[in-house]
Amino acid sequence: MREFILRARTAKTGDFDINDLPGAGRMDIVCNSISNALNISNKLRKDTVMHIVLEGSPEPPKIVSFHGDSITGMLWDEKSIASVIRNALLKSKGKEKIKVSDGLFVEKKSFEALVKERLKQGKQVVYLHQKGKDIREAELKKDIVVVFGDYIGMPRATESLLDRLGAERASLGPEMLFAAHCIILVHNELDRRHI
Ligand SMILES: C[S@@+](CC[C@H](N)C(=O)[O-])C[C@H]1O[C@@H](n2cnc3c(N)ncnc32)[C@H](O)[C@@H]1O
Repeated sequence: MREFILRARTAKTGDFDINDLPGAGRMDIVCNSISNALNISNKLRKDTVMHIVLEGSPEPPKIVSFHGDSITGMLWDEKSIASVIRNALLKSKGKEKIKVSDGLFVEKKSFEALVKERLKQGKQVVYLHQKGKDIREAELKKDIVVVFGDYIGMPRATESLLDRLGAERASLGPEMLFAAHCIILVHNELDRRHI
């Protein structure tokens, strides 16, 4: 199982305008990342779960999780994905945890809590960082959790926490990439090793 956790520091946790995704706390980054995490040509990646930790107003933090093995009706374009997220957020208003539909969940939980949960389950957690160990030389388990930041990046305090908890830093190369680019590169690396 591949799990990706994107920390979206300003993305809205309530209603937003699907015609203005950048204005919804850079929801465009969120949607592109989901599309890249779940879609390959003509099918969904059934071995992948994409978690988005939304930290914008009005109810942060919220985690929207997309499970590739069971989600239905997913499309690949930004606006359709935004519409799925908006609907999920509206249904989750004031609730701790809901199943919106098959393979789609919203939970009131922080980035740190989710990462700690996965480490407790014995999962390998890799933090994507430009100055980490070259991913080509890193050991990557088939069962893996990959965490990364959005346009703002990861808060320093969280980086220290990830280090203390034993998350490994992996680099995808010398350039600072978009969050959505990173996912494709990680998938490719995992595809080459584990398929
Ligand atoms: C657009 S970048 C963040 C830019 C932000 N201004 C910063 O300085 O952190 C989004 C995320 O992608 C990941 N990332 C970008 N380039 C990377 C690289 N070359 N290697 C590993 N991770 C990378 C990091 O997790 C980063 O937080």
